[in-house]
Amino acid sequence: MKVNRLKTKNYKIFIGKNSLKVLNNELKKVCSRTNKIAIIYDKRVPKKFLSKIKKSLSKHKLFIFFVTSSEKNKNLFVANNIISKLLKNNFNRSDLIIGVGGGIIGDLSGFISSIYKRGLNFINIPTTLLAQVDSCIGGKTGVNSSYGKNLIGSFYNPKAVFIETEFLKTLPRREMVCGYAEIIKHAIIKDKNFFNWLEKNTEKILKCEDHSLIIAIKKSCEIKLSFTEKDFKEKNLRMKLNFGHTFAHALEIKNKYSKKLNHGEAVLIGMYIAVRVSKFKKLCSENTVMRIKRIYDKNQLLKNVKKFIRKNEILKSVKFMKNDKKNNDDKINFILLRNIAKTTEPGNYKFNIGQINQIVNKLF
Ligand SMILES: NC(=O)c1ccc[n+]([C@@H]2O[C@H](COP(=O)([O-])OP(=O)(O)OC[C@H]3O[C@@H](n4cnc5c(N)ncnc54)[C@H](O)[C@@H]3O)[C@@H](O)[C@H]2O)c1
Repeated sequence: MKVNRLKTKNYKIFIGKNSLKVLNNELKKVCSRTNKIAIIYDKRVPKKFLSKIKKSLSKHKLFIFFVTSSEKNKNLFVANNIISKLLKNNFNRSDLIIGVGGGIIGDLSGFISSIYKRGLNFINIPTTLLAQVDSCIGGKTGVNSSYGKNLIGSFYNPKAVFIETEFLKTLPRREMVCGYAEIIKHAIIKDKNFFNWLEKNTEKILKCEDHSLIIAIKKSCEIKLSFTEKDFKEKNLRMKLNFGHTFAHALEIKNKYSKKLNHGEAVLIGMYIAVRVSKFKKLCSENTVMRIKRIYDKNQLLKNVKKFIRKNEILKSVKFMKNDKKNNDDKINFILLRNIAKTTEPGNYKFNIGQINQIVNKLF
């Protein structure tokens, strides 16, 4: 099976079965002066991939750091531990960090790369569907603080991204759904044809069928890039990618980021709420709501908010969101839907607590 290539302004993305085969070749081009390589490896990713990677990088001096991927470990302490070991081993700016794991490892490795001696080479090898269709694109890196998620970070691009679909074969369905939430989000906000295609092919993606997966991953990366390349630092356009994420955030806060509800599930519910709010505000038609609902129902995707939050708790959680780094005044920004592939513009729908109260009373 051929390896697909996507070219961004600054680096290439390799997508497909066996995309790791081109790792060494690309490295010679983009990191020609690299001597030492630190591999930050998610402990849950099968070790056979590590052996493959090690084999293809046999000419380099390798240092392996195994990390248990959890939000609790995505912090400055773990970052500092790894940085100290790199310093001890005299890593310099022409050396390289490779992150192999889901979004947590990607964000952590990218963050370390961006601050170590003001920036050394970074390569991302995402191993979850979410990381492959979302977090590996757009250059956001970061760690959590006791004040909240992803509050410490940077914008920093990798030298290359390798998306190998074989990783997904060991990923639990729940994690596949998590990545799928971002895939359908990309279709809803940007691409009618892709949405039509998802109406027919979602099941194949969730069953991890290579052909459909590769189409969905490639399309998703293209859509995310179309926003991030125009607005790298999230000043405006990129905020459209937050579609569904405002309510998702409220749900995650209420559930204390517990395993009961993972991020993708919260996004699925949040998007469904956003679609209903859009209908309530007379922005989109009932037909648009129904088309989205049908995909949810056919694939048993979560949309029932009441299971996870009570009416009075929604407002409490929403209040927290005023402190979110994406909201710069007392009102909360919402991206709503006018039609499939057409959202409202960032900043055009900002609601205060009273207005949100009204929406919640009407819809829940
Ligand atoms: N930088 C960005 O733009 C961006 C965007 C979205 C999300 N994120 C961040 O991404 C993180 C979530 O990423 P995620 O959903 O990939 O979570 P994750 O990294 O925690 O991975 C999910 C689970 O899957 C396991 N796993 C990873 N690869 C596996 C494989 N191939 N087989 C079996 N198990 C595997 C992990 O160990 C973990 O238990 C969050 O911290 C979020 O803040 C960042």
